[in-house]
Amino acid sequence: MEVVIVPGPGEAGALVGDAIAGVLAARPAAVLGLATGSSPLAVYRDLARRHAAGELSFAAARAFLLDEYIGLPAGDARGYRRFIADNLERLVDFAPGAVRGPDVGASDLVAACTAYEEAIAAAGGVDLQLLGIGTDGHIGFNEPGSSLASRTRIKTLTDQTRRDNARFFASLEEVPRHVVTQGVGTILDASHVVLLAFGGAKAAAVARAVEGPVTAMVPGSALQLHPHATVVVDEAAAASLTLADYYRETWRHKPPWQGL
Ligand code: GLP
Repeated sequence: MEVVIVPGPGEAGALVGDAIAGVLAARPAAVLGLATGSSPLAVYRDLARRHAAGELSFAAARAFLLDEYIGLPAGDARGYRRFIADNLERLVDFAPGAVRGPDVGASDLVAACTAYEEAIAAAGGVDLQLLGIGTDGHIGFNEPGSSLASRTRIKTLTDQTRRDNARFFASLEEVPRHVVTQGVGTILDASHVVLLAFGGAKAAAVARAVEGPVTAMVPGSALQLHPHATVVVDEAAAASLTLADYYRETWRHKPPWQGL
């Protein structure tokens, strides 16, 4: 696992934007894995800027969302499909239908989860998966206790996650209890996973995911099993990392041609 400590989200956005631009340059029909939440926003801003400058096209690319709430009306402003539409899809040139999320409106949700897995596989798998991390160590909506081999399925949110996400809703009661999320196993199938975390509230979860034991109690720790996992954090989110100096030293001396 590579840990890159950056001054803030702006630098992270440029760095990860570079990596995504590299993926699209090598394979214009690349498949991206998109995360919601505040952590990937700087990356989406960087991608939109590159597109506006004529440097980057998503016209042949496809994208799959990590997760979605169950029970919100289709197109609801608090839904993750809408978040991605507003913060990336509408700002670049994805073809109609190229961005997909789990079909949480399906009458048979279990079948919809299987269909989502099949759609990702049929697209050839995810080339680069963006991730945030919950304060309880979740990735996607894989809460503590999630099987490290899990696939796309229905999950119940922890109280902690519902409280963390309540800022997007009028009250805690309005935060859905159920979601569909790609599984930890689904996420680990991506060729490259890039986790972003900023701020002191994420420091404990980052340290447990990066340097703690691999355990279902911290789903983010499953990234230790991935051959190409990159963790991009600011100083505050890196504050509890034992090997922070080593990560800085490694990054400082990394040959530029290697990229992320
Ligand atoms: C939600 C999402 C996760 C995200 C997490 C952190 O729970 N399901 O994918 O990583 O929030 O969000 P933020 O980046 O806003 O801290």
